[in-house]
Amino acid sequence: MAQGARVLFCGIADDAAEALVARLSPGAAHAPLYRRCDLTDVEAVRALVVGTEADLGGLDVLVNNAGNDDRHKLEDVTPAYWDDRMAVNLPHLFFAAQAAVPAMRRGGGVILNFGSISWHLGLKEMPIYQTAKAAIEGMTRAMARDLGRDRIRVATIVPGNVHTPRQERWYTPEGEAEIVASQCLDGRIQPSDVAALVLFLAFDDVRMCTVQG
Ligand SMILES: NC(=O)c1ccc[n+]([C@@H]2O[C@H](COP(=O)([O-])OP(=O)(O)OC[C@H]3O[C@@H](n4cnc5c(N)ncnc54)[C@H](O)[C@@H]3O)[C@@H](O)[C@H]2O)c1
Repeated sequence: MAQGARVLFCGIADDAAEALVARLSPGAAHAPLYRRCDLTDVEAVRALVVGTEADLGGLDVLVNNAGNDDRHKLEDVTPAYWDDRMAVNLPHLFFAAQAAVPAMRRGGGVILNFGSISWHLGLKEMPIYQTAKAAIEGMTRAMARDLGRDRIRVATIVPGNVHTPRQERWYTPEGEAEIVASQCLDGRIQPSDVAALVLFLAFDDVRMCTVQG
């Protein structure tokens, strides 16, 4: 936004979203737009993405960020819970991308899908989340192949453990020290570190990078 980009984001946390719009709008060349959308409703996702092209006057970057890593024990998973967890973590990325492709075919584009390091590490008590996140990497590779010749790049962002407010419920001082000790780089990953990677991959200069950086 500081570079004049037109941004529309969606979610279900209206108060936080509206506070963000109020914080970022003063002085912005283009104030960010917020739309409420429950991403588990695939038809709503499709309508939102198609409407976004009109709202922004084009669509060249899609960031599929939303997900939910609620913990669950393998033995407690019912078919209904499986469907619920998958809905929040997987299909909306596919259908948002599908809906964005016609606009991106006109001038090229970038689709960034949020995966997770969790399944690479085989963490405990979130088998459905990890199943969805593993699928996102496969889906990204497939999309990158299908869309590359339309000048649409598709990549997975694979964050490590990012220090967000939601994650705080699972932290202990010892646990955080363990996270840092297991990383190559010293220090805790902040949301702004991940945002920087998103911006980098979205730049036109990164024109020959798809699937992974
Ligand atoms: N924080 C981490 O340590 C970490 C690690 C690896 C991967 N990730 C991934 O990074 C992405 C962002 O994670 P985060 O830590 O910022 O999570 P977060 O919970 O802080 O933010 C997720 C956002 O998704 C929104 N959301 C959730 N369900 C939704 C729904 N049904 N419809 C619309 N919006 C919905 C939430 O309101 C929230 O704004 C996720 O895909 C997550 O899986 C995070």
